[in-house]
Amino acid sequence: MEVPSNLFISFFYCCFLFTSGYIGVEGSGHHHHRRRRHHHNHHEKHEIISDYTSNKPSKLFVFGDSYADTGNVRKSLGNSWKEPYGTTFPGKPAGRFSDGRVLTDYVAKLLGVKSPLAYTWMKLGGKKLRNGMNFAYGGSGVFNTVGTLLPNMTTQIDLFEKLLVDNHDSNLYTKSDLESSVVLACLSGNDYGAYVATGGTVQGLQSFIPRVVNQLAVSLQRIHGLGATKIVVTALQPLGCLPRVTQMSSFQQCNSTLNLAVNYHNLLLQQAVDKLNNYTKTPTFFILDLYNSFTTVLNQKGDYQGILKFETPLKPCCMGISSEYFCGSVNGNGAKMYTVCSDPKSSFFWDSSHPTEAGWQAVYKTLNSSLEQFLQV
Ligand SMILES: *[C@@H]1O[C@H](CO)[C@@H](O)[C@H](O)[C@H]1NC(C)=O
Ligand SMILES: *[C@@H]1O[C@H](CO)[C@@H](O)[C@H](O)[C@H]1NC(C)=O
Ligand SMILES: *[C@@H]1O[C@H](CO)[C@@H](O)[C@H](O)[C@H]1NC(C)=O
Ligand SMILES: *[C@@H]1O[C@H](CO)[C@@H](O)[C@H](O)[C@H]1NC(C)=O
Repeated sequence: MEVPSNLFISFFYCCFLFTSGYIGVEGSGHHHHRRRRHHHNHHEKHEIISDYTSNKPSKLFVFGDSYADTGNVRKSLGNSWKEPYGTTFPGKPAGRFSDGRVLTDYVAKLLGVKSPLAYTWMKLGGKKLRNGMNFAYGGSGVFNTVGTLLPNMTTQIDLFEKLLVDNHDSNLYTKSDLESSVVLACLSGNDYGAYVATGGTVQGLQSFIPRVVNQLAVSLQRIHGLGATKIVVTALQPLGCLPRVTQMSSFQQCNSTLNLAVNYHNLLLQQAVDKLNNYTKTPTFFILDLYNSFTTVLNQKGDYQGILKFETPLKPCCMGISSEYFCGSVNGNGAKMYTVCSDPKSSFFWDSSHPTEAGWQAVYKTLNSSLEQFLQV
């Protein structure tokens, strides 16, 4: 598949304005990983069997961006800590890029564990640490997006690895914990936002997309090398359907040119994951298809049961009053520079990039059974 040559990706960067340059250096941690992998494979065959028959996954570890973040981004950096974020759940702004629950919360629900604590709040941990940990930072990518302000996926995995090593004696997370855990890796497009914002050309996209997917595959492999045996990775959602793009058509239609580029990313991801699974022999990596689930929910204007209804599915609940403002913006006097719909439950999108809790719930319902099957829960 080819990326159309007239493609110019508009601004679909999720949460932040860019403050500094983007540097794409690939592959840290790779060699390290190779050494570990052989060691790991010896154990795998025996232990996998017991995992399937007895252990339910008991922990969830999460890497990625705002679709998965539950409070890592600092309050000064993101609008996720401002009104009206969090009004549905937990009832006030608490670091989620939605009015309520996000993807992480629904995956945790499927596993029957509490949503894992955001890494930033680890010190408050205590018993909560037993559910795993969330290392996802809104606005991040596999490469650096906002300079080095946000930990990219490699750095997020570094933080995780450091936690394993530093707490080796206290057994915070043991190797067998990891083997009975689920990992969610969520990438929703910030690398492409950064690419465009820093002057990336259309022609260059054809080679940039493979670089993003390759780097993602390196991260997935490394997570496996640390001992994880169930790794769920998201396919890219239809970026051409995000409100920040569809506002050009008054929220009437998705931009199919953009979605073609997304399809290319997803095709390469599928190939990379097939290869990884072929290599590990047991099904270790699973693609959570956000492309099809978003598309399905948007097309049927609700969930398949007709319980959730989204009348104008492309229109977000919360919007800046003009293009210079965002959901959550206030002016110098503290006055709201945004509008919020009366019922977030009837909107699929919350703001210009992120689904509402209801939106995520509808998406989750379309994914639940295939994910359940993969995880054997
Ligand atoms: C789709 O997006 C591309 C890139 O931003 C833009 O050039 C094109 O005009 C858009 N198409 C429509 C139908 O809006
Ligand atoms: C991730 O961030 C670190 C720290 O800024 C940087 O050194 C590294 O090159 C980045 N990794 C990738 C793959 O861009
Ligand atoms: C899977 O691995 C086998 C060798 O182990 C190889 O022959 C085959 O081409 C691989 N398939 C893919 C899709 O990588
Ligand atoms: C997941 O789907 C199954 C049917 O496939 C359903 O019985 C179950 O209640 C769903 N779980 C959740 C948490 O929605």
